[in-house]
Amino acid sequence: MKRTHTCGEITKNDVGKKVKLSGWINKRRDHGALIFVDIRDRYGITQVLFDPEISALTYENAKPIRNEWVIEIEGEVALRQEGMANSNMVTGDIEIIAESLKIFSKSLPSPFPIFEDKTETNEELRLKFRYLDIRRKPILDKIVMRSKAMQAVRNFLSNENFIEVTTPILCKSTPEGARDYLVPARLYPSNFYALPQSPQLYKQLLMIGGLDRYFQLATCFRDEDPRSDRQPEFTQIDIEMSFADKKDIFSVSENLTKEVFKKCLDIDILTPFPIMSYSDAIEKYGTDKPDLRFDMPLERLDQIAKKSNFSIFLKVLEEGGCVKAITVKNAASDISRKKIDEYTSFVKEFGLMGLVSMKVQGGALTSSISKYFSENELKEIKNICKAEEGDLIFIAAAKPEIVNQSLDHLRRKLAKDRKLIKQNVFEFLWVDNFPLFEKDEEENRLKSMHHPFTSPIEQDLKKLDKDPISVNAAAYDLVLNGYEIAGGSQRIYDKNLQEKIFKLLNLSKEDIFEKFGFFVEAFSYGCPPHLGIAFGFDRLMMLLTNTENMRDVIAFPKTLRGLDLMTQAPSQVSNEQLKELSIKVSEEKKISW
Ligand code: AMO
Repeated sequence: MKRTHTCGEITKNDVGKKVKLSGWINKRRDHGALIFVDIRDRYGITQVLFDPEISALTYENAKPIRNEWVIEIEGEVALRQEGMANSNMVTGDIEIIAESLKIFSKSLPSPFPIFEDKTETNEELRLKFRYLDIRRKPILDKIVMRSKAMQAVRNFLSNENFIEVTTPILCKSTPEGARDYLVPARLYPSNFYALPQSPQLYKQLLMIGGLDRYFQLATCFRDEDPRSDRQPEFTQIDIEMSFADKKDIFSVSENLTKEVFKKCLDIDILTPFPIMSYSDAIEKYGTDKPDLRFDMPLERLDQIAKKSNFSIFLKVLEEGGCVKAITVKNAASDISRKKIDEYTSFVKEFGLMGLVSMKVQGGALTSSISKYFSENELKEIKNICKAEEGDLIFIAAAKPEIVNQSLDHLRRKLAKDRKLIKQNVFEFLWVDNFPLFEKDEEENRLKSMHHPFTSPIEQDLKKLDKDPISVNAAAYDLVLNGYEIAGGSQRIYDKNLQEKIFKLLNLSKEDIFEKFGFFVEAFSYGCPPHLGIAFGFDRLMMLLTNTENMRDVIAFPKTLRGLDLMTQAPSQVSNEQLKELSIKVSEEKKISW
């Protein structure tokens, strides 16, 4: 047996016991006549004492050992000396008096300190030596929590009678929103498999196959620019149900979330979650994933702006734009001119040309543009914005998309800067009734806002022919603290309706046959009404572990440049490999590691 205990479990109740521990040297302190070593495994840290009076040979053997060497010690559990106990550690009262030492392997000096929770080391270096980074508690804890969450998901859904099914990784390339990762089919030159962006089609086919409740912890691949909350390769908790409605899927999702939070954080989440329509979310927060941990809603000022003499506002309104405002409480005196200029340049990134500010001072609204408004109009602005003495109002006027996007970002930035975000709270929100289509301005055609298998809401079916852009979808997202953690929809199960949607998306019969022939055909063989959802599991883990960096919750993540710094992937392959695949490379790019 290599060990009798782990390094995280021995307490003063074990004093006098003979034990054997294995692990890495976390820290070593040479006190001249005595050597102290902290030995670490994934369970914790235990102090070991090498004393020449106990075993001269073991003491001599311990002299050369250094951090990160892997050792085994045998010895007796003893209480630490008076004043040396550490009440923050499970093992803080004891130490092991070493009687023998075995060195399993030595280590080069670590490129960064492993024993400190906080690190100044840049992330690229940590990712290059990820196996060392994983030894660090902040990363290890997240990986352990991820495993706990996965178990909770599997247990909960299995108990609810969902069947776990593994769907293929080598798939057919179908248009699903992002770019596909392609895999050449060696036996069929010029043909490619695609890696799944999600198991969407398969899970619907499983419903047609009669499975009625499916789930999978599914790996998905999307060739899009990585972001701090987006990876090219990520995990979904993918769910689909037949003979059920939106209420059922909301309830399963809420109870699943409840279970995961209880198991991982021992927190009781309140359900049901509130629901807001897409249009209300955009109107009130400028985004379909509002962070409700702080207030600061957007207020519409179109009607007053219309009455004013301020030509910029009037022109924007004439051109179909809008005027909206955001009120910052008690900010009139502590947001300086310079700071206002900084916020103005900040919103320029989102296409907003300028930002008007107004302050409530001495009971009145003061601003460089006050002169264009009557006193009553100023009062009305103050009322609509619920602005009180000492408050500051920012006003944006432009195309609705620009105003909404800019004020959404400004709202979040102000909340961060002014520390208005409630800590350790989880604000869930369902956002539903998304538009079914959006306009592809470049190609002047409709495209699906979610995917083409999303059903319109029943009461909008009649609008499909005359006014398709106004049709709402039976689609929903689950938002947590400003992150979209899940998304799903009611699916179309009627062949004619599915074909109609394809037609509105400007897909010809040939296109449909070529891209989704197998799928459309399946609808001819008895398709149950069904709906589903997919949670972004990595996003959920970010929120559970309180990090803003998705790479922290993935054992071996890719960088923002889409690279695996440890294995150095992607990499060039040999000419033989290319030849075998009948591939000629037309451009080369060397990656700088
Ligand atoms: P959707 O594309 O909205 O829906 O994805 C579901 C959830 O997956 C997460 N997510 C990501 N997480 C990390 N990196 C990415 N690149 C990434 N992209 C998406 C988000 C998102 O809410 N098949 C449908 C689901 C359905 O309709 O049932 C789908 O994939 O948290």
